[in-house]
Amino acid sequence: MITDTTSLKLEKENLEAEDFLPLLGTDYVEFYVGNAKQAAHYYKTAFGFQSYAYAGLETGMKDRTSYVLTQDKIKLVLTSPLTADSPINEHLRKHGDGVKVVALWVDDATKSWEETTNRGAVSYMEPKREEDANGYVVRSGIHTYGDTVHIFVERSGYNGLFLPGFKEWKSDYNPEPVGLKFIDHMVGNVGWGEMNKWVEFYAKVMGFAQLISFDDKDISTDYTALMSKVMSNGNGRIKFPINEPAAGKKKSQIEEYIDFYEGAGVQHLAVATDDIVKTVTAMKDRGVEFLYVPNTYYDDLLDRVGEIDEDIEPLKERGILVDRDEEGYLLQLFTKPQMDRPTVFFEIIQRKGAKSFGKGNFKALFESIEREQELRGTL
Ligand code: FE2
Repeated sequence: MITDTTSLKLEKENLEAEDFLPLLGTDYVEFYVGNAKQAAHYYKTAFGFQSYAYAGLETGMKDRTSYVLTQDKIKLVLTSPLTADSPINEHLRKHGDGVKVVALWVDDATKSWEETTNRGAVSYMEPKREEDANGYVVRSGIHTYGDTVHIFVERSGYNGLFLPGFKEWKSDYNPEPVGLKFIDHMVGNVGWGEMNKWVEFYAKVMGFAQLISFDDKDISTDYTALMSKVMSNGNGRIKFPINEPAAGKKKSQIEEYIDFYEGAGVQHLAVATDDIVKTVTAMKDRGVEFLYVPNTYYDDLLDRVGEIDEDIEPLKERGILVDRDEEGYLLQLFTKPQMDRPTVFFEIIQRKGAKSFGKGNFKALFESIEREQELRGTL
């Protein structure tokens, strides 16, 4: 295993980034949930998302309903089945609420599908043109880890709000945004011994390069451990770290996830803000629960990370973590799982030059998660 924890130099390992799949960014993230209407209300209230688009019986959709929420560049889609025979039920039965689609914005969805399936991706959806009065969208899709899929979205021929079949979602209830701006990275958990298979998938099938890797010596506490590799596309806009559990004295959070999600899936969405103190304060006021670290974390913080622009006290009050790499520092904080099962959670991140992922916080963070696992009886 290559371990380069001090620099962010591209590790080649025969995984040269080859941009046959130019990605313009994350288009949307779709969750399959048990009750989309209520989940939408939660993400509006607690996370400050705005009502954006809707599809359901009123728009001619017979088997499912979808609410699209937005905040700055982020689009979340929350989808629930309307009928007993919808295949979405099987996803919910197996995984509980979770991420089904990580949609990627491309110039050419047909070519994206051809390039990736030619390189070994399993097709989820052949290129399909959907139209309405506002033009057309082409979408195609491939499978990735677990039951998760990537959908390529080509929308240059479309002037509508979201996708054909959706209408504007107007609401009288519009809580203020909390300052979430875009998806910084999105992390997948895969099973024992599967990390390298999926690293290879992102390298060979999607043309990503490996940015950095961590092994169990970097990410472990006295009890639990994990391994992680970060895959990034050619222009660096898309970053997908992939975690695998590692053997420890007790069950790691990755293993707990795999048990409850019944397989691989998206573990967390990291969302960027320009003002983490303000964002986290607003989210806490609205009832979002975050992991906490002991106050002793802050005793030697400045020795560890050097000078920072922020006052320590507001960070300490909110449990915001800080880490530094060669290029700068970052501030971050993790929510507790946002599903009934201990599976998917969110990270709030503010980068001040740093391009890494907070390695210096892993130990404190893991110990914090272990305290939660202890309460759940899953450690
Ligand atoms: Fe993260």
